[in-house]
Amino acid sequence: MKLNLKIWRQKNRDSKGKIATYTVKNISKDSSFLEMLDILNNDLLEKGEEPVAFDHDCREGICGMCSLYINGKAHGPDSRVTTCQLHMRKFNDGETIYIEPWRAKALPIIKDLVVDRTAFDRIQQAGGYISVNTSGNTQDANLTPIPKNDADKSFDAATCIGCAACVATCKNSSAMLFVSAKVSQYAMLPQGRVEAKERVINMVKQMDKEGFGNCSNTGACEIECPKGISLENIAKLNREYLSATLSTK
Ligand code: SF4
Ligand code: FES
Repeated sequence: MKLNLKIWRQKNRDSKGKIATYTVKNISKDSSFLEMLDILNNDLLEKGEEPVAFDHDCREGICGMCSLYINGKAHGPDSRVTTCQLHMRKFNDGETIYIEPWRAKALPIIKDLVVDRTAFDRIQQAGGYISVNTSGNTQDANLTPIPKNDADKSFDAATCIGCAACVATCKNSSAMLFVSAKVSQYAMLPQGRVEAKERVINMVKQMDKEGFGNCSNTGACEIECPKGISLENIAKLNREYLSATLSTK
C-alpha cells in the first residue's frame, strides 16, 4: 500500500504546531498502524529528519499508552480497538490519513502526537486504590463472597486502560467515563466500600482541579471507548458522589 499521511507536528508544549505531509510506500495491509508509523520514522531518520513522536508501550491493547486521532476518530475507524491493535487492512491503497493528538486543555501536547496524561495519574492517586494491610496477615480475596453480577460489573469497569480517548472524544473534554470506571470498580466490591466516600469525593475534586469539563450525557465517550466502558458507570459515580456528600454533611 502507498499512503499519504497528514500528521500533526509540534516541537514542544509552547510552540505552534501544524500538519505536515508524508508519503509511505510498500506498507503491508497486515501491519499494524503503529508499525506503519515505525516505517515512516525509519524513512525520516534515513533522510536525517526528526521522527514523529507518538506514545506506545504494550502494543497489545492493555496498557493505555497509545492514543491518536485518526481521520477524526479516537483510536481510528475500528470500534472497541486501540490504535496499537488497528491494522492497515482497514485503510485503502492511496488513501490520505489524518493523524492528530488527543486535544483537551487538561491533556496538553508535549510533542507531535504525545500528550501529557499525568492528570489521570493524579486523579488515580487521589483515591483510585484500596488500602490493605500487607504485613503478612492479608486475607485471601477469595474468602470474601461476592455476588456474580457485582463481580462481573466490577470487572467490566476495571477493564478501563486509562487511554483518555473518552476525554478526547467528548465535546466538553470531560473525564467522567474514566473516573466513573475507577470509582465503580471498587464501589461494587466489599473491599472497596471501606474507603468509598473519601474515594469518590477526592477523585471528583481532583478531576475538577485538573480542568476537565462537565459531562452533558452525549455518550460520545462510550461509543469511542476501546474497552466498551458503559455510561452506567457515570450514573453509578453520580449516585456514589451524592450519597457521599450528603452523608459527610
Ligand atoms: S473509559 Fe475507555 S476511553 Fe476512557 S480512559 Fe478508560 S478505556 Fe480509555
Ligand atoms: S500500546 Fe498499550 S494499549 Fe496500545
